[in-house]
Amino acid sequence: MTPDLFAALSVPVDEIEKLRNEIHRLDHAYYVLDAPVASDTHYDALMSRLRALEADHPEQITTDSPTQRVSGKAENAFTPIVHAQAMRSLDNAFSDDDVSAFWQRIVGLLPQAQPLFCAEPKLDGLAISLTYIKGILTQAATRGDGVSGEDVTNNVRTIRNIPLKLNSHNPPERIEIRGEVVMPRSAFEALNHRQRELGSKTFANPRNAAAGSLRQLDASITANRHLQFFAYAVGDLSEEGLKSQWQLLQTLRVWGFAVAVEGALVTGIEGLLDYWKKLGEQREQLAYDIDGVVYKLDNIEQQQQLGFTAKYPRWAIAHKFPAQEVWTKLLAIDIQVGRTGALTPVARLEPVAVGGVIVSNATLHNGDEIARKDIRIGDTVVVRRAGDVIPEVVGIVEQLRPDNALVFNMPDTCPVCDSVVIQEPDKSVHRCSGGLYCPAQKQRALEHFVSRKAMDISGLGGKVLEQLLQANLVNHPDDLYRLTYQQLLSCERMADKSATNLLNAIKKSKSTTLPRFIFALGIPEVGEVTAQSLARHFLTLDALMQASEEQLQAVNDVGVVVAMHVKRFFEQAHNQTVIAGLRAEGIHWAEVEVIKTPENSLFSGKTIVLTGTLSSMSRDDAKHLLTQAGAKVSGSVSAKTDVVIAGEAAGSKEDKARALGVSIWNEAEFLAALAPLNFANDKA
Ligand code: IVH
Repeated sequence: MTPDLFAALSVPVDEIEKLRNEIHRLDHAYYVLDAPVASDTHYDALMSRLRALEADHPEQITTDSPTQRVSGKAENAFTPIVHAQAMRSLDNAFSDDDVSAFWQRIVGLLPQAQPLFCAEPKLDGLAISLTYIKGILTQAATRGDGVSGEDVTNNVRTIRNIPLKLNSHNPPERIEIRGEVVMPRSAFEALNHRQRELGSKTFANPRNAAAGSLRQLDASITANRHLQFFAYAVGDLSEEGLKSQWQLLQTLRVWGFAVAVEGALVTGIEGLLDYWKKLGEQREQLAYDIDGVVYKLDNIEQQQQLGFTAKYPRWAIAHKFPAQEVWTKLLAIDIQVGRTGALTPVARLEPVAVGGVIVSNATLHNGDEIARKDIRIGDTVVVRRAGDVIPEVVGIVEQLRPDNALVFNMPDTCPVCDSVVIQEPDKSVHRCSGGLYCPAQKQRALEHFVSRKAMDISGLGGKVLEQLLQANLVNHPDDLYRLTYQQLLSCERMADKSATNLLNAIKKSKSTTLPRFIFALGIPEVGEVTAQSLARHFLTLDALMQASEEQLQAVNDVGVVVAMHVKRFFEQAHNQTVIAGLRAEGIHWAEVEVIKTPENSLFSGKTIVLTGTLSSMSRDDAKHLLTQAGAKVSGSVSAKTDVVIAGEAAGSKEDKARALGVSIWNEAEFLAALAPLNFANDKA
């Protein structure tokens, strides 16, 4: 046998093919169905085997190979592409009347009185068209002006829920799949957070972020933006023998596309409006932005009968939701002082309704954001409200700037206590240097001290604390423990019962735990989890108070900054006095148990986030077990998270984990991983 012939015979075509099919299957399960069927390790092993084979046999590399999602070539980037069929837009309905006019028009044009409509969410992203030839993704184009768009093939290939190859034994010779590229809200928040940290431009909304991410010359940047694609149409329906829009959506699913799950078949004006109303109510819970619904006449023959106007299909309409982004006037900028002295600029706005709520304040985040967005007092600003988060000013309407618009500068001194304001190096935070001398910080610090996860004193809300502070009855946390019944009664709206309850709650809080106590102190950067690590490491408060920065840094997850804050906090004489006062009042805790982290625990050193409800144990118990197993339990998902454990009704954290590609375990998987550690008899 000649060496050449030998090489040809040994090309592992079958194995390559099998690997690709299996990886496509796993990708589909993970990115489209949201139901992973294999572990990351298994997936990575398949990928690296495929990469190795392709490296040995580069002639075998095909564009639909999963290894080719991110490829460097950008020579065709953004060249114009004329769509085979125009990508039309939709006429809009803004009111119930518009919808009933649409219904009447259609019924008037059709023989059938009760036509069916396929109702779908109107995704707020950007429309693209994907061309598959013989089932292989060969080109992707933006909508552009509808007649021609731009070539974004390389970038679109990085979107993980887009199949590189249709899942069909008998794919059409050529087909254009249309749909919307969106950025899930969690990915949007994460992206803006990263941008802010890098000092780069932030995006006003997920749609802009999705558009910006698709127009990157470097496809590896797009790949990191966690875009998603939802299919809802094909270029030419008639070819596939499809009878209805509903059937088309099912076929798109079979081919491997993600299709928005909220679609429904409806009929009658009431039917259409009901769907709109229901989806409107669910809107905030969806993982991505939608700006309305689309009603499409379901029967394709009827669609063809009605045809198009110059701009729109006659058989479909977009029924928009009221805007979640509105314009209003920025009247003033106030400064709020937080618990650790951080100054937050707050926009005072001409009251305006956003998504059904009247908004008159919105956060401006920090001074750098104001400067970056060039927001001036007197400007007309764009205000956005998303879910139950604080409304924010996303930008200005430049054209409407009055001549007398005022540039805003962060103050040099604290507006509450007049102490010097310090801007932390490399950070956009301005901080009042007044510490507990500052009444604003004092109030926030007390609110934190009494909060549920700290000393857990219920019945002591902001209003009562404010009065106690003003009456000079409380200055420091230890003063709380010297309050008398008579003093409490002097507060407004404090009657016999509430005063007695409050005194009992204060008394009860004396018996606490060391981690709670450390957390309650409100040391900057020391959250609940860090407080636990510190307690577990030092075991006693005295040891912690005496620790050097080096010793502090030896604690799991304590870095230079946290160590600096802890050291600085305990060095201050007034903090020492308050702590001594608290102990004198009888605050106590049981000794911290020394817990041995089981060796070779799957969890040791891992950062884990719990979300949703677990059926077998409380969140706190789960946290306790994980901590004992050597994990760090964190409250928020980031790229550093190793695993998210998702119980029932897990929400945005799970979405975020998915967007970031973080492993997600369900309760069963969590319990299975815990089992070998034999924690069963350990009281959490
Ligand atoms: S169908 C001929 N379905 O809305 C009709 N469009 O104003 C083709 N859009 O450019 C569009 N969600 O970007 C359709 N479920 C959906 C949609 C949708 C969002 C966008 C799309 C289009 C625009 C029309």
